[in-house]
Amino acid sequence: MQLSLKYRPRTFNEIIGHTGLTKELNQRSKQLDFPQVMLFAGESGCGKSTLGMIVSQLLNCHNPKKTDEGFLEPCQICPSCMDILTESYSRNVFFKDCSSMGKDDIVKLQDLVSTQPIFDNNTILFLEEAQELSQAALGATLKLLEKPRPHTYFILATTQLDKINKAIQSRAQLYKMKKVSYQDIAALLFELLKREGIDESVPDSFIESLFLLAEYSDGNVRQAVQYLERCIYGEYFTRQQILDEFGFMDMNTTVQMLYKLLKKDVSFFKDLDATDTTIFYYASWKTLLDVYKRKIGVEIKDEWKIRFLDGLKNEPNLDALINVYNNIFQVSHMIKDQVVYSKLFIDYYSIPNIPVMQKSNEIKVRPIRK
Ligand SMILES: Nc1ncnc2c1ncn2[C@@H]1O[C@H](COP(=O)(O)OP(=O)(O)O)[C@@H](O)[C@H]1O
Ligand SMILES: [Mg+2]
Ligand SMILES: [Zn+2]
Repeated sequence: MQLSLKYRPRTFNEIIGHTGLTKELNQRSKQLDFPQVMLFAGESGCGKSTLGMIVSQLLNCHNPKKTDEGFLEPCQICPSCMDILTESYSRNVFFKDCSSMGKDDIVKLQDLVSTQPIFDNNTILFLEEAQELSQAALGATLKLLEKPRPHTYFILATTQLDKINKAIQSRAQLYKMKKVSYQDIAALLFELLKREGIDESVPDSFIESLFLLAEYSDGNVRQAVQYLERCIYGEYFTRQQILDEFGFMDMNTTVQMLYKLLKKDVSFFKDLDATDTTIFYYASWKTLLDVYKRKIGVEIKDEWKIRFLDGLKNEPNLDALINVYNNIFQVSHMIKDQVVYSKLFIDYYSIPNIPVMQKSNEIKVRPIRK
């Protein structure tokens, strides 16, 4: 079984990252006081569907468990919980990815909300990729959202909040989900190794590589867990094997190359093939963002991203890359010149700031269901 499915969180406490949000949802669970229209917005693999599933289960669970704090957790064994757990959706939960929503689905959706729930207390409409709602579906949905009937809940999820219809946004309780940090992801991967009972049998160096997997999954927890699964089956345990296998570029190599580039030494490019050049683009961009975020501690301006992405659309070539960097320097108001900039790099990377994971259970991780 896929690890990402096997270890899909079943309670809010098992969700990593999003601590404010899960605290709120836990509090709400006490009285089952969830907003009737919820919109989860965040990048792929950050836990949107999982949160939606837990909320849906709670709303109809026949026998919720009460934690010491008084929070409710879905029992996972009653017919309503099972229906969602097994993703059958044959009861009162209508689940649809909007990019594949047809006329029939709209009719079914309208039927469901206009009749009393048959099996359980609440009817739940769970719409994924809500920015893809067709005009027809949008019209129908908006009408339903305007004054949701009692016992009717809408859970919407999107990876592109900016494309979500404004009227929908204004009717929903919006939950913006940030990228999960690489530290949290690495801790989860370690926990999964333990849960699989192989934390002792993998080489120590692999534990350190969990940070590499976490960094490169860039906030996408599903991606990180998938990388981990491949490492386990493929026995990719050394840093080099992982770099080779997943086409990651070593951060040190990237920094060294960037440093040369900033000093206008481009000789190393001769030895790079096209794939490596492309990887270098991405790796260096990620490095830039990291440095920018951590040293200057601000959100990345969209302006930056757009310029950079425009640069990447071209065939990988040196001119394009230099162009990208020039663009970045031009739009950056805080980094005055390349000298300051490269100094930031060196300062930043000479500080050993990446915590090393020990095998001896010292890492703080959230409890995971047994
Ligand atoms: N915040 C999280 N905490 C723990 N596991 C997560 C989290 N987000 C995603 N996952 C893992 O990734 C898988 C997919 O998550 P999902 O909720 O479907 O993401 P999304 O809907 O945002 O794309 C889950 O089954 C779980 O293994
Ligand atoms: Mg999803
Ligand atoms: Zn239940």
